[in-house]
Amino acid sequence: MQNTETILVLDFGSQYTQLIARRVRETGVYSEIIDSATPIDRIRSWNPSGLILSGGPASVHDTDAPKSAPEIFESGIPVLAICYGLQWMMYHLGGEVKPSGSREYGRSCLKLTGEDPLFHDVPRESHAWVSHADEVISPAPGFEVIAESESVPNTALCDRSRKLWGVQFHPEVVHTDYGKQVMFNFTRRICGCKGQWSPAAYIDYAVADIRHQVGSDNVVLGLSGGVDSTVAAALIHRAVGDQLTGIFVDNGLLRYKEAERMLKVFRENLNLKVEFVDASEHFLSRLEGVADPEEKRRIIGNEFVSVFQEAAQKMSRVRFLAQGTTYPDVIESSGIGRHAQNIKSHHNVGGLPEQLGFDELVEPLRMLFKDEVRELGQELGLPGETVWRQPFPGPGLAVRVLGELTKERVQTLQQADRIVMQEMKDSGWYEKVWQSFAVLLPVHTVGVMGDARTYENAVAIRVVKSMDGMTADWVQLPHDLLGRISTRIINEVPGINRAVYDITSKPPGTIEWE
Ligand code: XMP
Repeated sequence: MQNTETILVLDFGSQYTQLIARRVRETGVYSEIIDSATPIDRIRSWNPSGLILSGGPASVHDTDAPKSAPEIFESGIPVLAICYGLQWMMYHLGGEVKPSGSREYGRSCLKLTGEDPLFHDVPRESHAWVSHADEVISPAPGFEVIAESESVPNTALCDRSRKLWGVQFHPEVVHTDYGKQVMFNFTRRICGCKGQWSPAAYIDYAVADIRHQVGSDNVVLGLSGGVDSTVAAALIHRAVGDQLTGIFVDNGLLRYKEAERMLKVFRENLNLKVEFVDASEHFLSRLEGVADPEEKRRIIGNEFVSVFQEAAQKMSRVRFLAQGTTYPDVIESSGIGRHAQNIKSHHNVGGLPEQLGFDELVEPLRMLFKDEVRELGQELGLPGETVWRQPFPGPGLAVRVLGELTKERVQTLQQADRIVMQEMKDSGWYEKVWQSFAVLLPVHTVGVMGDARTYENAVAIRVVKSMDGMTADWVQLPHDLLGRISTRIINEVPGINRAVYDITSKPPGTIEWE
């Protein structure tokens, strides 16, 4: 973003790179992630207030070890180098880096050995999170040791005259007691940033930017009911009002009464022009009897494109297609950062522009993290129910009706899922978890109701916590809540006689069952 104080995070492949960028923003300073090898001229064009070198899995002794532009160390721009970043900086500047005698993982005791602004308001002893195989054996000339850990003497180093700092621990993770303070000290004390970044401050910038891009042309946006597309709609509507039309497709795979609820939000809360397409019968008839999860996703993806295309073509010429793309999507598609293996093909609107003949994309959330999108939604006056909505997969309930899909099975699942949602919300757990839902299993089990034998379906209840959906842990819900959910589903939903709780983490499981 132009005219905003910015810290650049140079990515060396750490699993924590995005976390570093988020932590910087939490100190009130805008941050962007760039490739570690970005040339110095490009770096200078951002006019950054500081640079952070991320950690990474490599060793500086590997033949293809990642490097940064060497000029950054003489540029006068303050540098904070973390873990591999520190090792690379030391190695390049003439220090010695070697494999540690004992690899150090987990919490370690951090002891300050000097005075430095990086550790302002950090006690002399605290805990820090470490994870490394190599360590700095002797610092590069000009560097002073400012902290040590139990097993690594050169844990934090600095050369104040060249404005270079390096730490062998991870200030970005919550397990480092004073990590936030260290980040704040770097961005605000060392780099001198004033802390002007906030999602609220972003609204004015984004509104002006959208107006500039769109002019008096029209914009169309696919509304999924999810947080991202809804917040994007609210923001674009604020910028260009009725030049924006949302297209909302009911594919018959939404939660119980979700289409009605969302339409009300779009029309009444957002005052949005919405083209509502009820394609539920159409989607369900295409999916009838399909059992393979990837086949379900493929059909839904294709049908969505054709339904969207038809609706868009009915409108007068529209130049712009808007999307709720967020920063993690941008990072992943640009190839920076960790590459997740494609375990499931995710259906999103990514391929639409070419297929639909729009001239340009409008993506006002492309520099924001999910939590920032939520904050922005709140600022824009969206109801809490919308802002705190849990993620919901594009193919919807199709991937939660395991095995062969039929309209009746979707309806059965909607009833079970409605009860899970209601109980999670009433007990205050809904907002505390990443996702909570029911899955209809393709098995019949024997039960007894009244005096009669039953032979009916089983459901699984899945409740997970997660930061970003990449990894997840099952949630230890109170037993009485689980009991209530189970009793209600079995009593109230015809065709279900058993409920089980899924206690699988990701990895090795995935969040969805299909
Ligand atoms: P998994 O099951 O891969 O899910 O652990 C991770 C996150 O992605 C969501 N998910 C999807 N989202 N289209 C989507 O838009 C899909 O095909 C899809 N499959 C999974 C899932 O709900 C979770 O939040």
